[in-house]
Amino acid sequence: MKIDYTTSLPEKIAYFELFNSTGWNADYHLTADELFQSIQNSSYCISAYDDENLVGFGRMLSDGIAHAVLFDVIILPDYREKGIGRKITEMLIEECKKLKVRDIQLFCAKGKLGFYEKLGFQPRPGDAPGMEIRLRY
Ligand SMILES: CC(C)(COP(=O)(O)OP(=O)(O)OC[C@H]1O[C@@H](n2cnc3c(N)ncnc32)[C@H](O)[C@@H]1OP(=O)(O)O)[C@@H](O)C(=O)NCCC(=O)NCCS
Repeated sequence: MKIDYTTSLPEKIAYFELFNSTGWNADYHLTADELFQSIQNSSYCISAYDDENLVGFGRMLSDGIAHAVLFDVIILPDYREKGIGRKITEMLIEECKKLKVRDIQLFCAKGKLGFYEKLGFQPRPGDAPGMEIRLRY
């Protein structure tokens, strides 16, 4: 299977459908327009295509100096375990290294720790965890 990777943004509805394949939107309630704005406002995005079909995506936000954060690494269920998530994440990490930021952070979804550990990420120590305020509208 030949997968093509691009930094061009995906089409709005294709991205909406890919995002909805995760089930996350049952909680976030993001519209197609809002999701498209979120990727437009990102520092760097990678999309993966099988022919014309969007099958994977990942994005990075950065201040360009000190920190970068990865979000929404998503592979369509039928395309998982084929190395596409790894390739997208490696491309995001590569861009962070080009910027020379000092750390790359992410929120790890349930059950995905092993995936990110294979790419070099380490959980933060229990006494210095990541924290968040969840806001829903
Ligand atoms: C997590 C996700 C992006 C992985 O993508 P993928 O394309 O299936 O992963 P890859 O095939 O590139 O896997 C790379 C390596 O990680 C391993 N791996 C993949 N998913 C894993 C998991 N959930 N737990 C542990 N290891 C995993 C693979 O076996 C592979 O190992 P190898 O290099 O030794 O062969 C994909 O399962 C997904 O989209 N899930 C739903 C959305 C999600 O939860 N994203 C993460 C948000 S934090």
